[in-house]
Formats: sequence, C-alpha cells, structure tokens
Amino acid sequence: MTATAVRLTARPELLALLGRTPLVRITADLPGPHPGFWAKLEGLAAGGMKARAAVSMLLGARRRGELRPGAPVVESTSGTLGLGLAFAGQALGHPVVLVGDRELEPSMRQLLCAHGVRLELVDRPAPEGGWQAARLARLRELLAVLPDAYWPDQYNNPDNTVGYAALAAELTDQLDHLDVLVCSVGTGGHSAGIIGPLRRRWPALRLIGVDATGSTIFGQPARPRLMRGLGSSIHPRNVAYGAFDEVHWVGPAEAVDSCRRLARGSFVSGGWSTGAVALVSAWAARVHPGAVVATVFPDGPHRYLGTVYDDDFTAAHGLDPSAAATRPVEIPHPRAAEAAGWVRCSRVTDPLRAPISPHPSEENL
Ligand SMILES: Cc1ncc(COP(=O)(O)O)c(C=O)c1O
Repeated sequence: MTATAVRLTARPELLALLGRTPLVRITADLPGPHPGFWAKLEGLAAGGMKARAAVSMLLGARRRGELRPGAPVVESTSGTLGLGLAFAGQALGHPVVLVGDRELEPSMRQLLCAHGVRLELVDRPAPEGGWQAARLARLRELLAVLPDAYWPDQYNNPDNTVGYAALAAELTDQLDHLDVLVCSVGTGGHSAGIIGPLRRRWPALRLIGVDATGSTIFGQPARPRLMRGLGSSIHPRNVAYGAFDEVHWVGPAEAVDSCRRLARGSFVSGGWSTGAVALVSAWAARVHPGAVVATVFPDGPHRYLGTVYDDDFTAAHGLDPSAAATRPVEIPHPRAAEAAGWVRCSRVTDPLRAPISPHPSEENL
C-alpha cells in the first residue's frame, strides 16, 4: 500500500455522534449489596470511548501540520482505539492502518475491517514488552514504508488526554456532586483527561485507578495478561500518577464475575475494564458510606461474548467466577507483593521516576 493508494471523503457530519453518553445508576450486587454508583456508558456512543481520543489526536495533528489531509494514520491497538480511529478516519477523511495481535477477538477484527480499516496482525509477543512491544515493532516498519503516515502514539500523545475534556463536562452537567471517581488505566488518557476539570468543580474528589494484574503501569512486574483494555506491559507517559489517591489491581476471575453480575442485574455491562471498575466502584460505595461514586464503562459487552461471557473460554483459562475475591488484599507499596488477584494500595508512584525498593520487613508480605 502506498500513502496515496486510498483516498477517503471526509464525513464531518459524523462528529455529531461523538460522546454525550448516558449516566446510569448501578445497583446490581457486585459481588454483594452496595449503596449504588454512577456509570458513564461510553459504549453507547459511535466509536466508543476512544473515539473522543482519536478525534482529538487527529485534529491536533492536522492543526500542527503533522497529518496532511487524506494521509494515512497508523496505530498499534488492542481494539478500542482502533474502533475510535476508524470513526475519526471516516469523519476526517484518513485511511487507517492498525497493528493488532493474534489475541484480538475475531469479532473485533471483523468490525474493524467492516469499517474499512487495514488490519495487520503480529503473531508472537516480543521477548521483552510482550504483545505491545511486538505491535510497536511492526508499526515502525509500516511507518518506514508509508512516509506520509501519521502515528498518533496514544500512550504518549497529550491530545489523547485532551480528548476527554467533553467527557468531564458531561459528568459535571450530569452529577450534582461527586466524591469518588474510579477509572481503569491503559494509556492513562481518560483518567488524566477528566480528573483535572472534575477536581476544579469538586476539589476533594478522590481518584481510584484500576489496573490489571500483571500490568507494569503502577509498578508491578510484567506478566502475560488475559485481560485487554486496562493494563499495559510498558509505562505510558499519559498516566497522571500524581492525581491518583489509590490503585487496585483486579484479576480476570473478578472481572468476569463482575461483568456477568452487571449483565444479569443491571442490564448494562461491558468487557474486562468495565467489570474491573464496577467491582471497585461497588467496593468504594460500600467503604465510603454516603459518598457519591462514579465510574466510566469504556465499552459494551459485544466484543467479549467469546471471552468474558463464554464458559468454555473461562474454563479453558482456569477462571472460576464463583471463586473471585470479594474484597481486596491491602499492600503497603506497589512492590510489596505481586498481585495475583484483587489487591489495593494507597501509595501511588511513577515506577520510572521513583523506583521503590521494598522495605526488608515488607518483602515477605
Ligand atoms: C476497553 C478499554 N477500557 C479501558 C481502557 C483504558 O483507558 P485509557 O487508555 O484511557 O487509560 C482502554 C484503553 O485502551 C480500553 O480499550
């Protein structure tokens, strides 16, 4: 493919479909009763939550002259940003080339291709940095042969974060008050983008980050991860470490149990990140009686019918939702113990800036 091979007509009218998602009260048992929390249903807007980031990154690059009209956009993605870029590419008139990996769900591959994306799949993880590093290596090869191509680099692009300003404005319109915000963290974009404006409105607002077990973002060791969306095997620079009051690592069994409870009891549900933030939001509503708690459900359940909601998949991966943890194990700092299931830590630091050496008395926790 050459940069000029595909010419797309921009369809700016699509931008009217961005965001403006509903906020719903969740009261389903997670896993037990709780006072309820608010969830922003990002899966109900065209292109999902990441369409906000995708449009922001492409418009920013267009303004700076880094993305020429009609030039291709190349990005590495595990899915959601890909859908957002497919949307932004159609709206702004850019062909989209995505680098995914073998773990990308077949339904997501079909959806991306249906929206006109050219999809490249890497078939093995890199020895260091896993699938993400393998995808980035292929992306660099593509950039070398597509000289006009623009790489948004969602992990480090400040326009990813900027794209969530409207999400924050919607939340301040939809809520009278907010005490606790719970956000999943992958690139760090949406948590970083909404916490600033929300704290200007509610200065005492607590921010709880939710990461995946085996993710390096908050200083845990890198391990193979089953969950997609939240978590990372690199250290994205968009994570607003200083803004978080605490972090929870959630395992796949807890996320599956939570997604299924949501689907059964509150109708709305989603994937790994939705299950994880719902579990932690219910916990926060329980331990902070009277507090208003809100979270963001990044996408809906459809992509996960063959994983989170499939008994054969969960059995094959040794996940028993009925054995999922019902409360977090507390650790004093991120390196005190490796999180195998749901773990909570109220000390949050950037692992690249302040490597933490475990206190000898804490090493055996
Ligand atoms: C489904 C899903 N949930 C949550 C996240 C995390 O969001 P962020 O990248 O804004 O931290 C992502 C990021 O890719 C995602 O795809």
